[in-house]
Amino acid sequence: MSIKVTDNRVFKLDTKDTSYIFAVGEGNMLLHQYYGGYVSDDDLSYYVKYQRHGGVCPKPAFPTADYFSTDVNRMEYSVNGTGDYRVSALQIKDNDGHASTDIRYVGHKIYPGKPVIPGMPATYATEEEADTLEIDAIDAHTGALVTLFYTVFKNHSAITRHVRVKNTSDKSFDIERIYSACVDFYAENFELLHIYGMWGKERIVERNKLNHGIQTISSKRGCSSHNHNPFVALVSDNTTEDYGDVYGFNLVYTGNFSAEVELDSYETTRLIMGIESTDFNWLLMPGEEFYAPEVVMVYSGEGLGKMSRTFHKLYRNNLCRGPWKLKKRPILINNWEATYFNFNEEKLYSIAKEAKALGIEMLVMDDGWFGGRSDDKSSLGDWFVNEEKLKGGLKALVDRVNALDMKFGIWFEPEMISPISKLNELHPDWTIQIEGRDKSLSRNQCVLDMTREDVREYLFNCIKNVMDNANIEYIKWDFNRPLTEIGSALLPKERQKEYFHRYVLGLYELLERLTSAYPHLLIEGCASGGGRFDPAWLYYTPQIWTSDDTDAVERIDIQYGTSMCYPTSSMGAHVSACPNHQTKRVTSFKTRGDVAMFGTFGYELDITKLTDDEKELVKVQCENYHKYYNVIHNGDMYRLISPFERKRDSAAWMYVSSDKDEAIVFYGVIRTSLYMPHIIKLRGLDPAKKYTDLATGAVYSGDTLMNAGLNIARAFCDFETVIVHLKEC
Ligand code: GLA
Repeated sequence: MSIKVTDNRVFKLDTKDTSYIFAVGEGNMLLHQYYGGYVSDDDLSYYVKYQRHGGVCPKPAFPTADYFSTDVNRMEYSVNGTGDYRVSALQIKDNDGHASTDIRYVGHKIYPGKPVIPGMPATYATEEEADTLEIDAIDAHTGALVTLFYTVFKNHSAITRHVRVKNTSDKSFDIERIYSACVDFYAENFELLHIYGMWGKERIVERNKLNHGIQTISSKRGCSSHNHNPFVALVSDNTTEDYGDVYGFNLVYTGNFSAEVELDSYETTRLIMGIESTDFNWLLMPGEEFYAPEVVMVYSGEGLGKMSRTFHKLYRNNLCRGPWKLKKRPILINNWEATYFNFNEEKLYSIAKEAKALGIEMLVMDDGWFGGRSDDKSSLGDWFVNEEKLKGGLKALVDRVNALDMKFGIWFEPEMISPISKLNELHPDWTIQIEGRDKSLSRNQCVLDMTREDVREYLFNCIKNVMDNANIEYIKWDFNRPLTEIGSALLPKERQKEYFHRYVLGLYELLERLTSAYPHLLIEGCASGGGRFDPAWLYYTPQIWTSDDTDAVERIDIQYGTSMCYPTSSMGAHVSACPNHQTKRVTSFKTRGDVAMFGTFGYELDITKLTDDEKELVKVQCENYHKYYNVIHNGDMYRLISPFERKRDSAAWMYVSSDKDEAIVFYGVIRTSLYMPHIIKLRGLDPAKKYTDLATGAVYSGDTLMNAGLNIARAFCDFETVIVHLKEC
């Protein structure tokens, strides 16, 4: 068992190389003891601190030997209003309007395996892979029974947490805050690392020293967002890619989230992560339960690289689902940047035919195939094939593409409605809105009320009609605007603040229904590029369009930042035309292919317009995708040079196969200068093995490549890239 209990008072959770310990203290308070590298001692109660300065910190009303205060101790799950003034994970408002909370341990349960979270995505595990601990604690005043769930993965340094609150009283109460995890660290010299961004520039890595006070990383947009990602890491100030302590936290949730980190005056760092609380409230009636989503916690004592590899493996094996999760995805060509809205069946067929001849395996028909949509001003919601555009209908086109031995995929943006649409004429009340208030538009569109069953039923049937009409093997599920003017006609006044979470639950229900009805369907998530790149989406769609920015140089940053916790197999990456449509930058066809190779590979350009030389390169790139696939997608990733550090002049990463007999190294120059490094120290190889550089025939031993380094002087121009393929000889 990876979970131990000592005399029913101390709980020790051990992964391969991590320990997490907490205890039931005086007054049955849950006290956090330790999280970090593996320790052999079961009880670290010497960590518990008694207040030396007397009265300024409130003391709970139970007899203690000394002056115990929740304000200076490390609490396992912090609550509001009873003396701990730091950020709190839980705040319950009683039926009379008081928002003080106080939870005390009442019992626990330990069992093999991992429970599902009703209605929500989460990692999963067999009884052999993981053990689970449930801690029950009660707020006696309100009757809120709080259950803290901890699942310990035996083969990954990962512990997952989520929380359930049950109303055991005969009066309702409000849950005003419910975070899924809280961890208190004693006297660590931490920095906060997170990935922020914007449309077209997602997941920039930023790392800063913690100041005293609170720092919040959050989204209130109704989606996890381009701007912030539900991933943060606390890292020691001396941590590098392969050295030092890292604690990574990732929320398995698509909606509003918040990670709050507080460094207090006693040098304790507290992190809480969960549903963003200012736009949240949940009225819980007697007997009802509420579940908060899952946080995945990964500890690495060997730097950021190991943390990322743990997330990658866990997500590929224990989060993504369905037949595609570990399977090679088809090389696709998407017509968006090739044609935008201006296409017909012949144009698409000509792209498919040329693509097939060069090694591409699937055609994806993007936006513009339905209703009267010829620009972004209308028709979202009218999911009926536009037969003026696609003469002969969808089936005829799909059959023709299939006859080329190519798969066919299609774009949807189910959650949206255009004010100019048949759907809006029929159901103006289906839009999220507040009566009497103007509706803000974004990309000329509004959002459907996903909390409504009739809306979800309509959307399921629309998608089903398309799916059942033709051999559709892939869907791109887009979402192109955040939520505003939050209101649902179906919810009473006191439940309007439940809206954001109810939206997400409605969305999950529809996705679950769709994936169950079409288990072989490959879905790619998308939200104006990477505006919803979160682990919850990976539960439904094993790949996500990483960014609308397809410029290879920008993609180096974006894919590097995304790799902090998301696996390469989840990142949609396409070769597009130049000058690039987003940045106007010109890069070589080779560079574009080299960067896109490190993702779920594809093309997004008018392939019929390529030169013969470029077509030859497409063939080579497709062959390379198959050749490198096993190492890149099933191997271990090591980041070597960060595009966000030093002089932001270059980037490098590499992948090593699981038996260390093969490696693929990527190096890209962003801005050249005379001092450019030409030696990169590799990682992850077997020091005793000999490797051949397949391009030059040079042979090196693993220790030479890792200690002395590989000479990559071949890349020297702006935007030039090199892929080095090493094989054991
Ligand atoms: C979003 C997506 C793009 C494309 C367009 C279509 O911006 O991110 O890839 O599908 O919508 O409108």
